[in-house]
Amino acid sequence: MKIKDNKIHIGKVAVSDLAEEYGTPLYVYDEEKIRDNYRRAFNAFSKHYPDFRFFYAVKACNNPAIASILVSEGAGIDAASVNEILLAKQVGLGGEDVMFSGNFLSDEDIKKGLDSGVIFNLDDISLLPRVLKFGKPEILSFRVNPGYGRSNVGEFVTNAGPNAKFGVHPDQVTQAYKLAKEAGIKRFGAHMMPGSCITDADYFPFVTGLLMDIIGKTGKELGIKFEFIDLGGGLGIPYRGDEEHLDLEDAARKVAEVFKAKTAEYGLHPPRLMMEPARYFVGNAGYVIGKVHSIKSSYKKIIGTDVGMNTLCRPVMYGSYHHIFVDGKENDSREKLALCGQLCENTDYWVKERDLPSTIAEGDLIVIENAGAYGFAMSYQYNGRLRPAEVLVKKSKHWLIRKRETYKDMVANTKVPRRLKKK
Ligand SMILES: Cc1ncc(COP(=O)(O)O)c(C=O)c1O
Repeated sequence: MKIKDNKIHIGKVAVSDLAEEYGTPLYVYDEEKIRDNYRRAFNAFSKHYPDFRFFYAVKACNNPAIASILVSEGAGIDAASVNEILLAKQVGLGGEDVMFSGNFLSDEDIKKGLDSGVIFNLDDISLLPRVLKFGKPEILSFRVNPGYGRSNVGEFVTNAGPNAKFGVHPDQVTQAYKLAKEAGIKRFGAHMMPGSCITDADYFPFVTGLLMDIIGKTGKELGIKFEFIDLGGGLGIPYRGDEEHLDLEDAARKVAEVFKAKTAEYGLHPPRLMMEPARYFVGNAGYVIGKVHSIKSSYKKIIGTDVGMNTLCRPVMYGSYHHIFVDGKENDSREKLALCGQLCENTDYWVKERDLPSTIAEGDLIVIENAGAYGFAMSYQYNGRLRPAEVLVKKSKHWLIRKRETYKDMVANTKVPRRLKKK
């Protein structure tokens, strides 16, 4: 995003042009930024450990156009559900290019997962006999809960440790692989996903060490050759202006050091090193453009926009911060103002006090940054406020990659029994 002659641009396109052509609220993604993010991260890790691959966790932004960009860069896909396996297929990936990391799977999930031939990543030892009832995955890993996790928004997305619902307890890991081996499974990997949005480089080698100590002992005891070890996602981006950026070079170098040292310590055959980030690739490449509809002066001055918690739910769900720009007014003097969406919920009053241009007026465009990850994917239709359109920008070109929902979409799957229909 750039401000040129006081006008906000994404790529080389003025947000006012995008708003005029596609309407608001609107999700906009910058393709060049996604590619830059991917390449920076891939180069950092593969430089220190050449047998390295990223799997993009498609849950963060599940538009097939965005997934296609990452697949074209060489990423596999991390799928949380059967529908995400289907999405991977739609963008050309299947088999061992896809990792199925669902949790609390149904029998239906298991059967469809097995049919698709993807890497099966089990979240619990109890899943193994349920999977074996329907078939034997060609390659299997367990998601290990190494007993420690972290996130930048407290417990909300801390995905490991005693309070997380995810992963196999360290004491059960050897037994889990033993049972899988006894059942005749021959190819193995290992996985963890302990935290999200971490900008402290030292966190990554620390959790790598935790996993490698657990997996190393298991490998040694059972004589298992792990083909891959997946460290999960969690590469963080700063959301506030004063937050530190992740020193990716430092994180990658230290992770590779620990990974190699632990591989040697436990006498493991060197596995492929994998990670499955999402936020780092797409988070800062996505924006929401919204419009100010009305301004109310009551107990406070409230700026009413069309960006509600249904459009971008992270602030309300996690208490997370997203910076807001006002097109054409960034150089104006500031005033502490409140800002909200249009929903009939007071939680939709998602900015209680923020320094915003005091000249902000009806019809102005706002641009919310860092909305590419867990933005559109978590949007919903409450109050009949329908999901926005999505647009991809590359330099001065732009493409609609998801149509704005209409009333027809809102009622598409509903049915009124004949007896209830008004004659
Ligand atoms: C299993 C799994 N892998 C990867 C990710 C991606 O995490 P991040 O966006 O923090 O990189 C997530 C996110 O919740 C996840 O649940």
